[in-house]
Amino acid sequence: MLFCLDPETAHKLTLASLRTAEHLRLLPGLMGKPVDDPVTVMGLSFPNRVGLAAGMDKEANTAAAFGQLGFGFVEVGTLTPRPQPGNPKPRLFRCIPQQAIINHMGINNPGVDEGVENIRRTRRFNGILGVNISKNKVTPNDEAHQDYLACLRAVWDVADYVAINFSCPNVPNLQDLAKADSAADLLSLMKSEQANLASETGRYVPLVMKVSPDMSEAQIRDLAHVFMDCQLDGLICTNTTTTREGVENSPHASQSGGMSGKPLYNRANETLAAFAQELNGSIPIIGVGGITTAEDAVNKIKAGASLVQLYSGFVYNGPPLVRAAASAIRDYCNR
Ligand SMILES: Cc1cc2nc3c(=O)[nH]c(=O)nc-3n(C[C@H](O)[C@H](O)[C@H](O)COP(=O)(O)O)c2cc1C
Repeated sequence: MLFCLDPETAHKLTLASLRTAEHLRLLPGLMGKPVDDPVTVMGLSFPNRVGLAAGMDKEANTAAAFGQLGFGFVEVGTLTPRPQPGNPKPRLFRCIPQQAIINHMGINNPGVDEGVENIRRTRRFNGILGVNISKNKVTPNDEAHQDYLACLRAVWDVADYVAINFSCPNVPNLQDLAKADSAADLLSLMKSEQANLASETGRYVPLVMKVSPDMSEAQIRDLAHVFMDCQLDGLICTNTTTTREGVENSPHASQSGGMSGKPLYNRANETLAAFAQELNGSIPIIGVGGITTAEDAVNKIKAGASLVQLYSGFVYNGPPLVRAAASAIRDYCNR
C-alpha cells in the first residue's frame, strides 16, 4: 500500500503511524522483543549492533517506535542550527526493481532547538540515541564550524553520540569540508569543544564523522590520518553516492542527488574496508550502505565494522530485516 503513494507522503504516513502505534503500546506485541546482543562501542552500551541511519527520523520524534521495531540504536537528524525547508519537491525517488533510492532532500529539518525539544518530549528508548548535525545551506564553508559547534552545544545533553555530517551530496560544496586540511581544522575545533563540554557537564559524548563513498584511495588515506591524529571517537561509512552505478536504466537515474540502497553496497563496503585497513582498529566504524539482507549486514562486520545501520533496505524489506540482521550478526560474533 505504501508503495502506491508518493515516497515522501508514504514516509510521513509511516512515521506518524509508528508514533501512534508506539503511543498505544501496540509495537511490543506485534514485533516481539528486540534481539539481545549487548556490545560496548565508543564506551556506550548498545543493546544490539543494528541501528537506524540518519535521515529517516529527521524531526527526531520517532526514536522510541524505531527502538520497538528492534533497532539497538537510532540516529536522528540531520539537524542544522536554523530550520530549513530543503529542496523543492519532488526530491525523493524509488528505483524499486533495484531496491535503490535517489534523493536530493537537501537536509530539510525543523532546526536543532525544535529537534532537541522533540527528543526531550518523546524519548522513551532504552537504546543508544545518536544525533546527526550539519551546517545550514546558507552558511558559507568558512563559517561552517560555527554551525557545527552551535549544534554540538545544543544537542550535548540529549545525545549519546554526535555524528558530524560533512558528506551529504545535496548541500552545495559541503564535501569540500572533507578535504584533509579542512577536516583537520573542523575536527580539532569540535574535539576541543567536546573536551570543554565534557568537563563542564561531567559527561563524555563521543564524536563520529560520516564519510562519503565517493572518495579516492588517497583521500581515504589522508582523512584516516586526520581522524587518528584528532582522536576521533567513531566513523560512519558511508553516506549516499552521486554515482548511478546499478540504476543506469531506471527512469529516475537522471535525478540529481545521492543514491542509496542495494547498488551502493559494493562501493560502501570498499570504502569501509579501506578505512578499516588504514585505521587498523584504532577507531570503531559503523557500516552503512546497501544492506538489504542479514548476510549483507554480517559482511559489514567482516569488513571491519563494529556496528551497522540500515535505511533503504529497511524501506524495501521492513522490520523483519532489523531482527534478521541483528541475530545473524550475534550468531557470527558468537562463533
Ligand atoms: C531519503 C534519504 C534521506 C537521507 N538523509 C540523510 C541525512 O539527513 N543525514 C545523513 O547523514 N544521511 C542521510 N541519508 C543517508 C543515510 O543515512 C545512509 O547513509 C545512506 O542512505 C546509505 O544507507 P542505505 O543504503 O542503507 O540507505 C539519507 C538517505 C536517504 C535515502
